[in-house]
Amino acid sequence: MKARKRLPRLVFDFIDGATGQEVAMQNNCVELDAIQLQPRVLVDVENISPACKLLGDNYGLPFGVAPMGMCNLAWPGADAAISEQAAKRRLPHCVSTAASTTMEKSYQQANSQAWFQLYAGTDTEQSEEMISRAEAVGYEYLVLTVDTPRLSRRNRDVRNGFQVPFRIGPRQFVDFALHPRWALSTLLGGPPGPMNYRTSKLGKSFQRNDSRGGIDWTYLQELRRRWRGKLIVKGVSSTKDAIEVKALGVDAIYVSNHGGRQLDSAPAAISVLPAIRQAVGEDYPLIFDSGIRSGDDIVRALAMGADFVMLGRPILFALGAGGAAGLNSFFNHLEEDVKSVMAQIGVTNIHQINSAVLAEIQSGNLND
Ligand SMILES: Cc1cc2nc3c(=O)[nH]c(=O)nc-3n(C[C@H](O)[C@H](O)[C@H](O)COP(=O)(O)O)c2cc1C
Repeated sequence: MKARKRLPRLVFDFIDGATGQEVAMQNNCVELDAIQLQPRVLVDVENISPACKLLGDNYGLPFGVAPMGMCNLAWPGADAAISEQAAKRRLPHCVSTAASTTMEKSYQQANSQAWFQLYAGTDTEQSEEMISRAEAVGYEYLVLTVDTPRLSRRNRDVRNGFQVPFRIGPRQFVDFALHPRWALSTLLGGPPGPMNYRTSKLGKSFQRNDSRGGIDWTYLQELRRRWRGKLIVKGVSSTKDAIEVKALGVDAIYVSNHGGRQLDSAPAAISVLPAIRQAVGEDYPLIFDSGIRSGDDIVRALAMGADFVMLGRPILFALGAGGAAGLNSFFNHLEEDVKSVMAQIGVTNIHQINSAVLAEIQSGNLND
């Protein structure tokens, strides 16, 4: 893989790695791969549209960019390149609390095709400041991530001495020296940092290991009252939690296991999706990520109950491999892929994709 060659090991592993033995991360992809779609024939698929609607808004594609901290480590202009694609293709760029560009700048660069992702913890003053800033900028979507009560141990990061802010010891120095192109372009103007924290008026420094364990159902209830825009809860994988979240008036649930970065013994995210769909009902909006690598995967997730899909690591690898041009061609391929898969299974519209497109031999659709 080109990104593996071009990025220092410490950066590649920060992106690629997961918690524990990385079983959950692998299972996310293995379980997606195992889902078969049913080819159909003699359907007029001359005009295929990958556009779709979510929460009343129109998107050019059925997928967007998952929130990721420190994207500029993958390529110096990563955040800006993602925003540019979001604006150009009408897809959401979910801007992380720990982003390496301020939420204000990303919202502007994405031409308002941006959602803000909130990490809230015991420091409610800090969270409130982030929410007020997002509100002032004009963000309409707030995505509260709830699956990181503690930052899990990521063995590759521990081995490589990955820290934010960067500490450059002898080991990291050698790693960077072996990747001079990356080192010169990324480190010369000062290494990327968590810009929403750096520009905070509260003057508190970002600690990657800060506890986010203090928030509970009461917090979500208060946040629902506080945030007048659309509220999404990210990181749900239990039907019981999904039912509670929906009952609190949250607009959409984002089913995810954080790409296997939090609990190694968690089920593959795609495996829990059908049960959550059943629990919340047909019409409740569900967003999905964890393990999506291709157009087939996007359609698989839609067939399993998602209304919209997000991608994490592949975005950063496209940037690491080819910068802004690499990301552009990745999106071109992905769009083509989605359309091609739709043609093979005989659908012309994203909203036609549901469990009826799953392979007959797998899904019991035989007698339809
Ligand atoms: C480098 C990296 C940074 C991430 N940072 C965040 C973050 O700041 N907030 C968040 O909610 N999720 C974060 N995630 C998780 C992603 O939003 C997403 O859930 C996950 O990457 C999806 O899995 P995938 O990488 O297999 O597509 C991060 C993931 C990666 C790879």
